[in-house]
Amino acid sequence: MKIITDYLVIGSGLAGLSFALQAAETGTVTVLTKYTLEENNTSHAQGGIAAVLSSPDSFAKHIKDTNIAGAGLCNQEVVTKVVQYAPNVIQNLLNWGTRFDTEKDGAYNLAKEGGHSEHRILHHKDNTGYEIQRALCNKVRSHKNITVLEHFFAVDLITQHHQGELVKRHQQDVSCFGAYALDIASNKVYTILAKTTMLATGGAGQVYSTTTNPTIATGDGFAMVHRAKGVLDNMEFVQFHPTALYNPSDSPAFLISEALRGFGGILRNKKGEELMKHYDVRGNLAPRDIVARAIDNEMKTSGSDFVFLDCTHIDKKKLQNHFPNIYKKCSSIGIDISKDMIPVTPAAHYFCGGVKVDAFGRTSIKHLYAAGEVSCTGLHGANRLASNSLLEAIAFADFAISVAKHEKETNPIQSNIPDWDYEGTSFPEEMILITQSLKEVQQILSNYVGIVRSQERLKRAFNRLWTLYSETEDLYKKTTLSPKLCELRNLILVGYLVIKSAKARKKSIGLHYMVDYSE
Ligand code: FAD
Ligand code: SIN
Repeated sequence: MKIITDYLVIGSGLAGLSFALQAAETGTVTVLTKYTLEENNTSHAQGGIAAVLSSPDSFAKHIKDTNIAGAGLCNQEVVTKVVQYAPNVIQNLLNWGTRFDTEKDGAYNLAKEGGHSEHRILHHKDNTGYEIQRALCNKVRSHKNITVLEHFFAVDLITQHHQGELVKRHQQDVSCFGAYALDIASNKVYTILAKTTMLATGGAGQVYSTTTNPTIATGDGFAMVHRAKGVLDNMEFVQFHPTALYNPSDSPAFLISEALRGFGGILRNKKGEELMKHYDVRGNLAPRDIVARAIDNEMKTSGSDFVFLDCTHIDKKKLQNHFPNIYKKCSSIGIDISKDMIPVTPAAHYFCGGVKVDAFGRTSIKHLYAAGEVSCTGLHGANRLASNSLLEAIAFADFAISVAKHEKETNPIQSNIPDWDYEGTSFPEEMILITQSLKEVQQILSNYVGIVRSQERLKRAFNRLWTLYSETEDLYKKTTLSPKLCELRNLILVGYLVIKSAKARKKSIGLHYMVDYSE
């Protein structure tokens, strides 16, 4: 079964959908998404989107804050380009129907988060991502040039390899012709051929046991590009959000937005002491890597599973008005945040590394672009500044279409691509093996490749993962294709890529903290 389209977009978060809307002005677009259009990390984003709109803020300040958070590893050209483009991103979002909170005089209500020297975060209450996704989905569903295929799981990118050529890693002329995708309802694999493919599959928080990411975040894009011999970068920089709600029965972990600390919330240890003053002069609003490490240290030294976020000194009505979802969620488990301190713990949150792209979102594979969390643009360096990722995703979708639109005329659809080979895959799905192996992967990464690492822990993680890799590849070769098996396979590859990059970076910097090396 074949589908032919000008643009194939894999993923329906804000990177994929904003690219689809721009691309649909120039050609036909097919959007694939493995569950529904709405289910992704974007819909869960709370704090907001960073943009400089007026003084006393300035582009120079936003650039400086991004660089400081990124520990000197950011790409200067990209930081400047994205920060200066941010007002256009906000205008696009407004045009698509997104609403941001305003003051009585109509000015935007700007929040502040860790690492920001100014209030510059546009938001919609504490559910900004949901509001953005709502607006984009409305536009996409009604666009005549966009076909949405929900419950379609992209399994692999199509390259010359599928035409029988040997493709090597770092080879210059690898091209992407589209993707093989499993229609989950019929269990059939479609061959989707495109002139341009945009990979927007998001991150991989699910490789850890505790994460703020929903179950879709299984690193499929990272794994597909690695298998297609493309280049990934900075995979060791996994950001742990300092403050997920400590409620062990929740999966994913519910985020307690950093904007709450920007609003006056104070981190306290078990004894009730203000925690961050022992660690950084910027206190509760120090960059995320520093706060997460501080909390990790407090928890380990006190033997506690959490620390506290104290908002009890903040006016109840203001808390309810600005953070209605956090208020409601905490109430549902018996915590009145205007009276009780909130138990919080760090959770895997964001992949700063990913598929390496240039300043226009071009990957090392021709006709394949990447945007959003799956990509590594150079904006975040060794640690992402809060609320820079929604901004980056839309900015790069725009940068990409500015060059990709020419491929419609210059890159013909390939005709000699074989259909998916089902040969030998008749063994029934072994769900127990899949779910247990997934838990093992998550434990390996959480135990040995978390906030604090060492060469010895990484070696142990690698050896443990190797066994799971061999067993799962064996299972994959003989088993009926299923999303859960593909996700497990992809997560194992993500674990491998994180460990490999972490082993190679022989210093402590940003999110990569090794006990073997002082900072
Ligand atoms: P996603 O929104 O995750 O979308 C990925 C899409 O790809 C999904 O539709 C998924 O189904 C699809 N997909 C994946 N694999 C496949 C496959 N094999 N086949 C088909 N489809 C596939 N950032 C900020 O800047 N500000 C914030 O306030 C903020 N808050 C956050 C709060 C939470 C709880 C979380 C989890 C993240 C937050 N982030 C925030 C980060 C930000 O939300 C994400 O980085 C961003 O939304 C990623 O967008 P994306 O389009 O790249 O990926
Ligand atoms: C938050 O609201 O704390 C999340 C912001 C982000 O991840 O950028």
